[in-house]
Amino acid sequence: MSISADPVLIRLLDLFGDWRSEEQVSRLLAQYTKSSIRTTVRQLEKYTLLVREGTPEAQRDFQFKQAWSGWLPSAGFFHFGSKDVRYCATRHELKKKLRRLLANSPQPPFFKTYENVRRLHLPTATGARGEFLEVLMSRRTHRRFSVQTLSLSSLSNILYYTWGVTGSIPSGVLGDLPRKTSPSAGARHPVETYVLALRVEGLPPGLYHYATREHCLELLRLGNFDKKAARYCADQAWVQRAAALFLMTAAFPRVMWKYNSPRAYRTVLLDAGHVCQTFCLVSTWLGLAPFCTMALRDTLIEKDLGLDGISESAFYVAGVGLQWPTDTVRLRNRLSASL
Ligand SMILES: Cc1cc2nc3c(=O)[nH]c(=O)nc-3n(C[C@H](O)[C@H](O)[C@H](O)COP(=O)(O)O)c2cc1C
Repeated sequence: MSISADPVLIRLLDLFGDWRSEEQVSRLLAQYTKSSIRTTVRQLEKYTLLVREGTPEAQRDFQFKQAWSGWLPSAGFFHFGSKDVRYCATRHELKKKLRRLLANSPQPPFFKTYENVRRLHLPTATGARGEFLEVLMSRRTHRRFSVQTLSLSSLSNILYYTWGVTGSIPSGVLGDLPRKTSPSAGARHPVETYVLALRVEGLPPGLYHYATREHCLELLRLGNFDKKAARYCADQAWVQRAAALFLMTAAFPRVMWKYNSPRAYRTVLLDAGHVCQTFCLVSTWLGLAPFCTMALRDTLIEKDLGLDGISESAFYVAGVGLQWPTDTVRLRNRLSASL
């Protein structure tokens, strides 16, 4: 949301820095009529720029200030200011937008090189032999899936090797910290994972929380979430044909407790990126079709997960399905071509 207003509004908001009644503020701004101040206050309330003492909004505001105090204002502005944005609703709209961008200016170059410097040629990279390189070279984003169900053992492998606790790190003062397959700044591991089971063999469709230490699923709600899956991902219709979605959230206090600076917000973003790449590789290793998306309806996800959006917030979504038959063939061809 962005607003524009007369600079005098800053003065008014500043006067409401502490709890004050309209009456008190009117006295301090004697050059304005009481009714104009009342109208302005109502407008500010409507857009939640002012909250009334004792209301749920004021309580939420207090909770926010307490929880986020160390990361304000920059990280708070960025996190809350970038929630629930509007995405292109159709391919047509996206194409139109891209054409408009191109008409404005060409794409910036994808590659940087230096002119007039000595170049040292490197040996050709080893062919993609061996399981690791095959997996690495095969990873890609899948957006269509076969209708088969995902086996429970595949789901279990994905969860354990991506988000599970695989060991511990003796840290001294802070005791044993969890070790996982992805790095995490300070081993704080702020990412929580909720499984939206759409088509998993032996697992009733529904919403589950993954307990990382116990390696088990905690049932939150049963139900068919196919349509909701697409809605969570900003109406990307193909998402509902996946077998499972992994709704990742950030449990901020884990990081805030140790790192009392807005810069630490970056670690949460970076952690989520690391863990999602691990997810993509594990899923590829299992011969599955992974994807990830940041086009999310954050608040809807938070509401359905029962999160306050302040101490734990929707962050990233990954998903997996069974490979579409022709994608498997193409993958094999590409692999043999790269060997
Ligand atoms: C942070 C992030 C967000 C993404 N969001 C979307 C998305 O909303 N929809 C989508 O179809 N793909 C999404 N992708 C996938 C990218 O479009 C994809 O990685 C890119 O086109 C390169 O293709 P590849 O993954 O097959 O190499 C996202 C990827 C990342 C890393």
